[in-house]
Amino acid sequence: MTALAVRDLHIRDLVGDREIVRGVSFELTPGKVVGIVGESGSGKTLTCRAALGILPEHFVVSAGSIEIGGRDIAGLSDAEWTGLRGSTISAVFQDPASYLNPSMRVGAQIAEVIRVKKRASRREARRRAVELLAAVHLRDPALVYEQYTYELSGGMLQRVLIAAAIAADPAVLIADEATTALDVIVQAEILDLLADLRARAGLALLVVSHDLAVIAQLCDEVLVLRDGEVVERGETADVLHEPRHEYTRLLISEHEQYGLDKYLEAVDV
Ligand SMILES: Nc1ncnc2c1ncn2[C@@H]1O[C@H](COP(=O)(O)OP(=O)(O)OP(=O)(O)O)[C@@H](O)[C@H]1O
Ligand SMILES: [Mg+2]
Repeated sequence: MTALAVRDLHIRDLVGDREIVRGVSFELTPGKVVGIVGESGSGKTLTCRAALGILPEHFVVSAGSIEIGGRDIAGLSDAEWTGLRGSTISAVFQDPASYLNPSMRVGAQIAEVIRVKKRASRREARRRAVELLAAVHLRDPALVYEQYTYELSGGMLQRVLIAAAIAADPAVLIADEATTALDVIVQAEILDLLADLRARAGLALLVVSHDLAVIAQLCDEVLVLRDGEVVERGETADVLHEPRHEYTRLLISEHEQYGLDKYLEAVDV
């Protein structure tokens, strides 16, 4: 069963009158992790947004198709999207604070997702929210439940956001630069957490990063995007060990100074 299938996706900017994404394809099955790397502006985020049905105004899917759980998303109504988002496909972006309400306790925000999406009682939603805060490795989840965003660090907020994103048991989680703003140690912990969710819950992951070390650590397969086109793709270990495209080689050489080597050893099979 395919959780998310993107086939020959083209995204057009109607105002700029140009095609920004040209021919991106990949498939996610349960427990599979696909990565997208590429320079800034190459179309990574737009690809994610297309899969979530939240393209910015005046951007459209101009060719190709996207299927979520076997269902073509073309022509879904707003109500159908509301049903899918969170419960079937979910996402975590950079800058978690901007996705949380500063005037509401963070736990209550997770409980709200559970109440609405899983039709749980208030009491049950609260219990489940505390459980989720524990599942994302927040120490003292009952305390964190009662806190506000300003009381939490960036790493803690990103965990809260991941807890909210998985609260309704989605089949697919999109992580778009989800660890970019975090320091290296917290980043490594969040990556472990994602790997754990994949292993335990069979979550399918789409991981977008400009950081090859992140991709190397998490992804089964990687797509290298340049200027809206996939210039290279394959199993992560193959692509990183034997890049065919000049641009991939360039990305790898840029990363060597950050100790990509130790991740390459990790994916060595
Ligand atoms: N809301 C928007 N309004 C106008 N142009 C946009 C918008 N979002 C993206 N674009 C344009 O579309 C192109 C692709 O953007 P996208 O955000 O997908 O890139 P990206 O690969 O995610 O880059 P980054 O690594 O910086 O996040 C860029 O040229 C960008 O300027
Ligand atoms: Mg982006």
